[in-house]
This record gives sequence, C-alpha cells and structure tokens, in this order.
Amino acid sequence: MKRVVLLISGRGSNMERLIRAGQHGELADAHIVAVLANRPDAPGLARAAAANISTQVVDHKNYPGRESFDAALAAAIDAHQPDLVALAGFMRILSEGFTRHYAGRLMNIHPSLLPAFPGLRTHQRALEAGVRLHGCTAHFVTPALDHGPIILQAAVPVLDGDDADTLAARVLAEEHRIYPLAVRWFAEGRLRIVGQRVEAQGEQQEDTLYAPRFA
Ligand code: GRF
Repeated sequence: MKRVVLLISGRGSNMERLIRAGQHGELADAHIVAVLANRPDAPGLARAAAANISTQVVDHKNYPGRESFDAALAAAIDAHQPDLVALAGFMRILSEGFTRHYAGRLMNIHPSLLPAFPGLRTHQRALEAGVRLHGCTAHFVTPALDHGPIILQAAVPVLDGDDADTLAARVLAEEHRIYPLAVRWFAEGRLRIVGQRVEAQGEQQEDTLYAPRFA
C-alpha cells in the first residue's frame, strides 16, 4: 500500500475527489492516510473527518516564520510515513528545504495550463489575457513555485460570456479528473522524472487527457 498525505487550506473538493477515488479503488494501492490543514477553519477538515480520515491542523499563525512552520508541518506529515504528499488547494508557499525533503513525492494540482499563469487568480488572468484554451496541471513540486515537472494537463475552452467563476467551474471538473489519475500513476510506479519532464510508462488508457474536450 502507498500512503498518501493530503495538504489543504480550504474547501477541499480535490481532497474529497481523491478520498472518493481511493474508496472506489481508482488509486491502485494508494490510500489517503491523513489530511493536514494550515487553517483550523478549512471547510475540508470536516469533510475529511466525515470520511473517517485522520485530520490535523498545523496553523501557520502559530509559527514565527516559514522555516519553522515548514519544519512543524514536515514533522506532522512524516509521522504518517507517506509515500506521497499531495497538495490539494494548499495555499502556502513552501520553503526550498521542504520541497527538497519531499523531492519526487510531492504533487500539486494547479488551475492553469502551466507554465502559463503560475500563482493566484489564474482564471481572471486567463480571461484578461484573452486565451481561448485554459485548464489545469498536475505536477511535481520543486522549489520554483508552480514550475515543477508536469505529470498531466487537461484543457478546457474559454467561452464567450465566461467570467472567472464559470471558467473556474469548468477547470475544476478537469482537476477532479486528472488529479486522481496522477496519483494512481504514481502509485503504480509509472512516473519517472527526467529533468524537467515526466515520463509516464505503460499504456495510457485515457484518450482525451492532452486534448481539449469541447463538450
Ligand atoms: C483548486 O482550483 C486548486 O487547483 C487550487 O486551489 C483550488 C482548491 O480547490 N490550487 P479545492 O480546495 O480542492 O476545492
């Protein structure tokens, strides 16, 4: 069994999707063993507890700086002996030491087609930039924010009349599709990081992951 720890800051819809995927056997032998949040009021905590997943808060406000918070967070994570740590709407920038400690076993889901629109407010920025395609990226985390090796991407069209909310909803549906897949491929040992690229070994059954679905 591959042990997965999820880190959240907010509502936790990607977390819920991963928990459900695990319960339905969609993550190979990966199991979500704990959900950690940096905010005591993260709504996802109650959802995780309702799914009988162990939860814990490491409140960043209780630490004088990033390094001390990251050290406490890493200690809490490592108590669960994870094979994989997956960020699911975790809204803290992580220190270089933290990302190096979890090199090759730290994943994130980001709401844009990286390397376009790293950082925040991605949907509004995509609208302002006038792109016709937007989407999401599952990637390994490295010290450079939102620039780690890309595992999977899914694209969606930007439609006339979209606002940030309608676009976010269309992207989120794709996040919920590709993140469990990235975790499953990791659990199956199919992902190899070669420089900045990820090579996915074996058959890729999903036919439309890299292509936009104009449904
Ligand atoms: C998602 O759009 C994720 O890509 C981004 O933050 C949002 C979190 O949503 N990093 P949720 O908490 O998973 O519902």
